Amino acid sequence: VIWQLERTMRDQPLLLDTSNLDILSVRTGNVRIPSDGPPRSLLDANDLSLMPTRFELGKDVPVLGAPLWIDLPAHVNVVEIYYRTTAQSAGLQWLSPAQTDDRRSPFLYTQGQSIMARSYLPCQDTPNVRFTYDARIHVPAPLRAVMAARAIEPSGPTRPVDAASPVSTFNFAMELPIPAYLVGLAVGELDFAPISPRVGIWASPTVLPKAAMEMGDLESMMQAAERLFGPYLWGRYDVLILPPSFPLGGMENPMVTFLTPTLLAGDRSLVSVVAHELAHSWSGNLTTNATWSDFWLNEGLTTYAERRIIEAIYGLPRAAMERALGRQTLEAELHSLAGEPQRQILAAGPNFALDPLDEISDVPYEKGALFLEALEHCVGRENFDVFFKQWINEHGFQSVTSRQFENAVETHLKGGESDKLRACGIDVGQWLHGPGIPESAPKATSLELQKIDLQSKNFSSGQTPAEGLETSDWNALSWLRFLKQMPDAIGSTKLAELDAKFNFSGQTNAEILGRWLELAALNHYSPGMQRIPDFLTTIGRRKLVEPIYRALAQSPADLATARSIFAQAGAGYHSLTRNTIESILRQAEVKYGQR
Ligand code: BES
Ligand code: ZN
Repeated sequence: VIWQLERTMRDQPLLLDTSNLDILSVRTGNVRIPSDGPPRSLLDANDLSLMPTRFELGKDVPVLGAPLWIDLPAHVNVVEIYYRTTAQSAGLQWLSPAQTDDRRSPFLYTQGQSIMARSYLPCQDTPNVRFTYDARIHVPAPLRAVMAARAIEPSGPTRPVDAASPVSTFNFAMELPIPAYLVGLAVGELDFAPISPRVGIWASPTVLPKAAMEMGDLESMMQAAERLFGPYLWGRYDVLILPPSFPLGGMENPMVTFLTPTLLAGDRSLVSVVAHELAHSWSGNLTTNATWSDFWLNEGLTTYAERRIIEAIYGLPRAAMERALGRQTLEAELHSLAGEPQRQILAAGPNFALDPLDEISDVPYEKGALFLEALEHCVGRENFDVFFKQWINEHGFQSVTSRQFENAVETHLKGGESDKLRACGIDVGQWLHGPGIPESAPKATSLELQKIDLQSKNFSSGQTPAEGLETSDWNALSWLRFLKQMPDAIGSTKLAELDAKFNFSGQTNAEILGRWLELAALNHYSPGMQRIPDFLTTIGRRKLVEPIYRALAQSPADLATARSIFAQAGAGYHSLTRNTIESILRQAEVKYGQR
């Protein structure tokens, strides 16, 4: 990597973040910057007069990694670092062919958020620092590199091609300034299908047709988003379907969202994740939380925006369902955080001792979105939309804090002397700095869900056999809600009854199947439990596998099963998922005195 620096403190050494990197050499030099025209690419520069410099890799500490100190002579403005990633680089997952859908070629992808970019790139790994970049990637010839950047068509071979081990070269440029966590790369056997002139899908050849079908609404989603939040500034918007071990639902890498294949349900029922990642093109990638303590500014705004897109494309009833499901998620999360009021707060303040990832809960997402909904309801949609657009426009390519958001609300929404917010009972300070859900939260109302909840209650309380359920107009979200409403201790007889009528154990929607297998584990329902090993060894999305491991960890006998599945599956998980599951199993072992 060659960093071109803006020197603000000429007498200070450069401090970069690293984690599990081997630093091979460091040199410094100078680039003359043309005063007009586009910035120079440093990829082929041979006039930098590079000279070795003194550097020191500091003590490696958990979570943060090791600081890299580099001596900088006063006059230099570039630093070149040769480095190698290692097997411990947590932001990379290297997959064998067997771990991919086509089982033919290996695969590599990066995951930078929150602070893992430092494990594949020595950098200032904070959302408060932005940069542009050029990249050149060499890969074994049959493979393709896709970066979260603009692909530059090759103007000819950039490398002599060796017949024995041919190499393909891909060039990229990210011309808009981004923070380090948005540097993204994937390499594998990838094909492309266009959806519109500016939207397309990257996926392995066997997955591509299904993915293109599922993502068919993407261009209309973009148009809806542009109407709501302003012009899309990033050029292309593509999505890349990752192998099933991808630990997240989605990651908003700029220009190329990364997505789990578990969204491909066949009926576009799970596309809210795509709407979410798309919305990050405004909230998150244009306006970025200055520190991870203000994570809600990325995720709360985006969750609100996601549902506005869903409403625009699929209508209010569907959006109302998603909002109500979100409310249910929030209430469950607050319940589980009952003893930790600090973690129920949106603007929780800096707490650098904690791993940003471990701290992540549904609170910044759902309480954040609910806060914006409360504001919208109070001032009216039209006023709120003006405010939201203005927030994005005024802070484009900046890093923002809760304080700034609070000020913006005060300035643009409060309504002067008449204090509209006060009249609605909205206490902005309480929303941002208090625990729980304030009284001023709008009610979650979805008639569809109310009907489902009633049926769910009747069924689980034994009033109705499965035959009596009226499900003809249900969609996948209805089924998900129905299963989420089932008490954890429903009992295996009731589960068998449902399975006989609706064949849940044969479900292909990964979210529905995930909840079903969780219920199966909690109730020792064996036809369901038989599907668990297969599910847990093929899928690595943390949100789907975690509840099943938790359910199994509830009894010593099932814990043994969980342990043996994990012994098989763990090596194929991304470190994010692996660490979470390891800690669940370890805690259970401690609880049962096995450790
Ligand atoms: N930016 C997040 C993913 C993320 C958050 C990665 C924190 C690392 C640390 C992404 O936009 C996201 O929120 N994904 C969700 C899905 C979304 C629809 C709630 C996920 O992956 O579950
Ligand atoms: Zn998000």
